[in-house]
Amino acid sequence: MSLINENKERDKWSSKIGFILAAAGSAVGLGNLWKFPYSVGSNGGGAFVMIYFIFLFVIGFPLMLAAITLGRKTQLSAVGAYRSIKKKWAFVGGLGVVCGFFILAFYSTVGGWVIYYFVKALKGGLAIKDPEVLGSIFGGFISSPVESILYQGIFLVLTLAIVLRGISGGIEKASKIMMPALFVMIFLISIRSITLPGASEGIKFFLVPDFSKINMNVIMNALGQVFFSLSIGMGVMVTYGSYLDKDSNILGPSAYIPMLDTAVAIIAGLATLPAVFALGFKASSGPGLMFVTLPAVFASMPFGKVFCFLFFMLVLFAALTSSISMLEVCVSYFVDEKGANRIKASIIISMIIYLVGMPASLSMGPWKDVHILGNLNFFDFYDKLTSNILLTSGGLLLSIFVGWVWGADNAVKEIELRGVKFRLAPVWKFLIKYVVPPAVFIILINSLKELIMAIL
Ligand code: PHE
Repeated sequence: MSLINENKERDKWSSKIGFILAAAGSAVGLGNLWKFPYSVGSNGGGAFVMIYFIFLFVIGFPLMLAAITLGRKTQLSAVGAYRSIKKKWAFVGGLGVVCGFFILAFYSTVGGWVIYYFVKALKGGLAIKDPEVLGSIFGGFISSPVESILYQGIFLVLTLAIVLRGISGGIEKASKIMMPALFVMIFLISIRSITLPGASEGIKFFLVPDFSKINMNVIMNALGQVFFSLSIGMGVMVTYGSYLDKDSNILGPSAYIPMLDTAVAIIAGLATLPAVFALGFKASSGPGLMFVTLPAVFASMPFGKVFCFLFFMLVLFAALTSSISMLEVCVSYFVDEKGANRIKASIIISMIIYLVGMPASLSMGPWKDVHILGNLNFFDFYDKLTSNILLTSGGLLLSIFVGWVWGADNAVKEIELRGVKFRLAPVWKFLIKYVVPPAVFIILINSLKELIMAIL
């Protein structure tokens, strides 16, 4: 399989596992390992996790199936997929392109942090237990404009290199080793973290919901996290589904991918949050949480140094299998729709993303207080704009499109091709038509309201 489609004949996944790996590779990334634990920490702990799960079941799973089905039906990437069923809807694909662009603009900032930590771990410079020292290493790095922008650039160059080569070669093979390795690794780290003296506070914080913590903000962020983590709402899964042939059952992967994605997020939470409490970090400290806490966990493990650099290497890998899917959505739009040359388009788009992304890196340091909207700096703005508004709008439109425009019955026919039996079809149809659109709409309106109030 290849996402690069230069031959007239459309590529297909060489195997079902190829599709699952690429889709899971897009889903599992910094969203699970870095964003989920700190979002739990900043949004009141278990209450956030509980709402996340509710949204996962009533919104995430149904939309994942809708996206993959739409892709397989049309055999086209997002813009074309919408257009081929209803011309006017092509803009939803376009929205995804904008979204991929802005996600990568700040995702690459964090990708750069991962590379920096990987290099530092390789040199053995992270074997430290003291929260203060770890905090100041992180703070020192992200506030240095030159270094953070440099590492962000390295991350983008790696992403670009993979997109240029096509993902069928190395990445697909490497995924088969790296993804399971990552899984085993965070599992081991979580065991160490849960068994640290004093960890039970953190486990409680993570798993026991405190209902008084629930407010509209927590709800908006939980929904945004579901979309972000599953890579849903910007056409990635439509595109990946389009490379499936009609013989493959899409029900399995549509269930496994969200399950795997969630499992990784939960284990990452268990690796991070108990240690936060046991070792004296602050759960609500935001985006730096993983970077300051985990090195301290490694420092209290046998072979901690080895663990540390292996871990950051695997996180980097997971981040890249996600970032390529963002860049790919942008590039394939210009190649398929505007007839651009793939290599030129990839390079130019990456450069523009780098420029637009630099302020995100700077807003961790010198531009911390440069607020572009309300009290949001560039980093937070890109994050909120994509997770809480663009992805959510994309998901809303996807549910209306599949449920009402194309029609849930037609979608079920596509799913049930070649004798596949979809037993939960009535439930899915109900969710995609009557539950997902109003639920997402209400939350989206609140996010928009907040954005508009910040402007005024
Ligand atoms: N799901 C990815 C992650 O968890 C991020 C992503 C979002 C990728 C949207 C593609 C599209 O890191």
